[in-house]
Amino acid sequence: MLQIAESVLNSIGSTPLVRLNQFTKHVEGNIFAKLEYFSPGLSKKDRIALEMIESAEEKGLLEKGQPIIELTSGSMGTGLAIVCNLKKYPFIAVMSKGNSIERAQVMQAFGAKVVLVDQHPDSQKGKVTGKDLELVEEKTKELTRKYNAFKIDQFNNPGSVTTGETRLGPEIITQLGDTKIDAFVDFMGTEGSFIGVSNALKKAFPPIQCFGVEPVNAAFYNSIESTAGTHIIQGGGYHVPLKFIDENKEIISDFIKVSDKEAIESTRLLASEECIFAGYSGGANAAAALKLLKSELKGKIILIIIPDSGTKYLSTDLWDILEYDE
Ligand SMILES: Cc1ncc(COP(=O)(O)O)c(C=O)c1O
Repeated sequence: MLQIAESVLNSIGSTPLVRLNQFTKHVEGNIFAKLEYFSPGLSKKDRIALEMIESAEEKGLLEKGQPIIELTSGSMGTGLAIVCNLKKYPFIAVMSKGNSIERAQVMQAFGAKVVLVDQHPDSQKGKVTGKDLELVEEKTKELTRKYNAFKIDQFNNPGSVTTGETRLGPEIITQLGDTKIDAFVDFMGTEGSFIGVSNALKKAFPPIQCFGVEPVNAAFYNSIESTAGTHIIQGGGYHVPLKFIDENKEIISDFIKVSDKEAIESTRLLASEECIFAGYSGGANAAAALKLLKSELKGKIILIIIPDSGTKYLSTDLWDILEYDE
């Protein structure tokens, strides 16, 4: 129902769930994509930011006007920038310079103070590693003390999981109506929302299989010989142990590896064939789901999340203009 929202905060959530038609034309089965980039901060993290701030307020953990701080690859930071702005908390976002600059620009536009941290000498721009994340964490700790700030701590904050259980998961189940799904596939950053959504889906569809997605070059859970290499899928694949995964292994059927090439090709196909303008992680999820439809899940229905928008990658070579002979 269309109505006047009290503020942009009320427009967080209620994103479309769309069947991919062209992307799956050569395989048996279906992929349903939850387009989280329809949110005001253009990512799945808006809901999580709202949940974490509201929960901290309810528990009396936040003082009026207290600065809030978080390390971010840009998505969580943008969600927090929106929620903090509208709820009148100063917000400090600490991000690696390895992430695309659009992320910092958007956070700043929403009123955040953005602190950019140099990458580790071994790292490359556009490819953020666990070593880069450590440097961002160090800077975040320093600034938390300096400003007596409230640290969101998305890698440990239970809100990462509860948002999936109480907000995103139930919304998907309502949208599915009588349609049953067989599997859920999600790229791993903190993986809180993967676990939360999986918990909700498992209750609604007990036989469901849930798969975590990792970059081939930085597969931590998927590989016996684990390699801490670089990759272009911003927002995760840091090759670090994940608390939410380690505590919930029983819900995970398996982990799937996706290469940069597969993620890029799928991201471009989502745009050219489905008019879904996703970022790399959405492409990685679609690529992983397609692999499953070509193998063990032939003929099944798979749910994926499109975590963010392709507009956040305009400065990368993802959308380079192709040269045509006239
Ligand atoms: C674009 C993008 N995709 C995927 C993820 C991973 O999400 P999560 O931390 O919920 O695993 C993130 C996290 O920030 C992200 O920014």
